[in-house]
Formats: sequence, C-alpha cells, structure tokens
Amino acid sequence: MPSNLRHSSHVFSRRASLLAMSGIASALTGTLAGAATDSTTTINWDRIAQEFLMDRSLLYLNTGTLGATPKSVVEARCALGQRLESNPAGEGFGSILLEAEAVIPKIADLIGCSAKEATVTRNTTEGMNFIAEGINLQAGQRVLVSNHEHPGGLRAFQFLKKTRGVEIDVAEIHSPPQSEDEVVDSFRKAIQPKTRVIMCSYVHFSNGLRTPIARLSELAHQHGCLMVVDGAQASGGVAVNVKELGCDAYASSGHKFLLGPKGTGILYINEQARDQITPMQLDDGLGFYTAIRGTGSMPEVIGLGAVLDWTRQIGRSAVFDRLMSLRNMLYAVLEKTPHIVPKSPPPGSSMASQLVCFSVDDRGRHEKLKAQFTQNKVLVRGVNIDGVDFRLSVHLYNTEADIARFEEILLKGVT
Ligand SMILES: Cc1ncc(COP(=O)(O)O)c(C=O)c1O
Repeated sequence: MPSNLRHSSHVFSRRASLLAMSGIASALTGTLAGAATDSTTTINWDRIAQEFLMDRSLLYLNTGTLGATPKSVVEARCALGQRLESNPAGEGFGSILLEAEAVIPKIADLIGCSAKEATVTRNTTEGMNFIAEGINLQAGQRVLVSNHEHPGGLRAFQFLKKTRGVEIDVAEIHSPPQSEDEVVDSFRKAIQPKTRVIMCSYVHFSNGLRTPIARLSELAHQHGCLMVVDGAQASGGVAVNVKELGCDAYASSGHKFLLGPKGTGILYINEQARDQITPMQLDDGLGFYTAIRGTGSMPEVIGLGAVLDWTRQIGRSAVFDRLMSLRNMLYAVLEKTPHIVPKSPPPGSSMASQLVCFSVDDRGRHEKLKAQFTQNKVLVRGVNIDGVDFRLSVHLYNTEADIARFEEILLKGVT
C-alpha cells in the first residue's frame, strides 16, 4: 500500500463492509437470485439475458468489439462515482482507492497467477504497449507474429520497428488451419536466430481460432524467446490460465467478453520474466496506484471487479459452455446456408473459440448481406482478412431466439 494511504485503512474496512451489505455485492446477489432455476445444474439463461440494458431492437453479435455490462454493475458503478464525487481526495485516496487495489487479486484469480503478477490497465492495447516497451528490443532483433494479429497487439512492435530497427516476421495461418500442428509448424519455420519474441493472439479476432498457445510457449522457450499473448478476444470467452498457457506476458480487455466497464483491461507478467519485461510504468510494481503510474479510473476498475464477481456467481465454466453452445448453433446455421463458408474451426475442435467467422462466396451477395444486416439492425464485425468477411460474437444477452432471427436474416441476405 502506498504510504500516503495507510492512514485511511480503517475507513476502508468500515466502508467495505457497508459496500458488501448494500452496494455492489448485494446488488449482484439480489439480481442473480432466482437466475438459476435449480441451484446446481440448470441455469435459466433467458432470465440472465434480461439482466442487461441491451437495446432489444438490435441483434447484437459484436461482443468481440465491446460487451455490455450487467445493469446491476452499471448502477453500482454510478453509485460509486457519486460517492467519489462527494469527497474526491478523501475517497479517491482512501477507501475507494483501496477497493480499486482489491480488484487486482480478483484478476489474478481469474487468470490463474499470483497477485504480484497481475494488474489493471485501460485496455489490451495499453497492456501490449507496456509489454513491448518493457522488453528493451535492440536493432536487428526480431519479433515473430501471425498474419492475424490485431493492430492493438501489433502497433507497439511496429513502433519499435520504426524507432529502433526491430524486425517483424510473420507466420502464416489459414482460416481455419487443419490442425494445431499446422499452426505450430508455421511458427517453427519462421523463427530465426535473432528472434527474441513470439507474439500471438490466444483467440484470433479475425477467424476465431483458439491458438495452441501452450505449444507456442514451449517453442518460444526452446529458442530462448519470450512468449507474449494478446488475449483481447479470450478472457471471459474461453478459460484462461496463464500458467497453463506458459506465456511470459498476457494482456486482455475488461470491456469485451469480461463484460466490464469500458476503458478497463488486465495485464499479466510472469514473475520469472520480470527482469526481461520492465515497462517504465510498472517500475514501482503492479499496483493500481503507484508513484510512476499516478491516479487511475477507480469506478471503472471497481466495476470490473464487480462484474468478475457477477460472473463467478453464475459459474465461469457454465458461462464458457453457454457461449460455446450458442456459437455452435451459429456455426450450424452458417454450415447449412447456401453461399456461406465458415472460416472458424468446427464444433468440437480444440481450436474452436466462442467467435465464429465466415465468408460469402461472391461479392454481390456479400454487399447484399451487408445491406440486410444494416436494415435489420444486426451488429456484426466486418473482417476482410485472409478471405474472412464477417465475425459473429455472442454473450449472455444472446439467446436461442437471436440465433433463429439471425438465421432468417442471413438466408434472406444471400438468396
Ligand atoms: C486481438 C485484439 N487485440 C487488441 C484489441 C484492442 O483492444 P482494446 O481496444 O481493448 O485495446 C482488439 C480489439 O478488438 C483485438 O481484437
């Protein structure tokens, strides 16, 4: 704890218990009570889908860009903002700051690391920037990435190319690859003697591929490289345990599949790699407030902690299973629709994620489908990488009725 905060810990414990009784915690418990129709096995997903502020005239299939936060968390965050404004320095350097710091162990629990290895950021991009800047790459050293990386993960390394003469190599991955071996071999072939970093998304934003990161980490370490993972599309959508992934650093967003407030992110740096990844802003450790980081957005970060609690109450693996089940329904719709080609791994594949992507077999139909989506308020992500045209991403506000509505609109759009 920063020394300027120590005096206020008694305030924190009093306010924390008040919060537990009447603030975020009870709002969440209250809202979810009754969500499960049977306390152990059956979850009433339709009931949970109602817990959001989502505009129901939309068919929202774009959580991969931004997810919606549960209404109870939005309300609790607003109340917290008001409390902060009632005594900015007293609360902001007192109990509320301590509540924000307390979110870090929740992040550590989420991704399976120690609290000393995790922190909050504003987004994936900021986390990836911290990592890239912290590696101290020199001219001529090389970074190996896939051909499906998002600018949020890539731009920091491109900056190092421009300013320091770092080289970037690309491993080509098809949409979808036939096997994990194909992906690993593509990286293996592209490694060079001066490669120092392998950077890859855990879930590719473009084709929904769940990359075999554990195997890539092994490959990286065999070649004396650091393994850096862009987890923007992974956390909240698929199970993530950074120790099982074996990576040295991992960054993700709070505002996508974790359903957190916008402008939140999470970052992991393996303790063993801390001497090789030394971002300036983390020089005083990974705390929320440190001398070299300064003041952050407390209501947003505390809201992120609250949504992690909200999801835990449902059960993280139940959520992953639900998303995968909705995604598999979408895959089945794509597979049976004429002129549509799924570009993501099929159901049951170890490389399938909650994202499902597809292409349309001719440009005229592609344009017609785009117009159909606009007209019917279907929110999807256009891709345009490696022959992929569209990405669909579901979350708990989506239901079987949404899949049926999508099927109808898709068919109209391509026939
Ligand atoms: C793979 C990937 N990386 C990074 C980002 C950027 O995320 P953020 O806006 O949270 O920085 C995205 C956003 O879609 C993404 O899909």
